[in-house]
Amino acid sequence: MTLVRFFRADGTLDKEVEAASGQRLLDVAWAAREPLEGACEGVMACSTCHVIIDSEDFAKLPAASEEEEDLLDLAAHATRTSRLACQILLTDDMQSLSVRIPPEARNWMGR
Ligand code: FES
Repeated sequence: MTLVRFFRADGTLDKEVEAASGQRLLDVAWAAREPLEGACEGVMACSTCHVIIDSEDFAKLPAASEEEEDLLDLAAHATRTSRLACQILLTDDMQSLSVRIPPEARNWMGR
């Protein structure tokens, strides 16, 4: 299990949830009813699942693919620790992951 902490754009803690190894971060966010759109549901055709990973936790993640890097160039408010939540698979050795939902994230899919 991995403890995932979701923070609001202003940096305040929103929710802490336990997630099983192998789950996508996008699915965990949806289950927690975080306002993260993920319009293409993970087929790498949008950047609406953009999240900002805590700088301490960023090194726990495998490197982003070139395709992911290209899509992150389109994301609003991207930082050097930005990632696409649909591309992050949780593993037990992560133990915890702190994730900030960027400003102006939308929840157009009603999740
Ligand atoms: S949901 Fe579209 S790239 Fe992640």
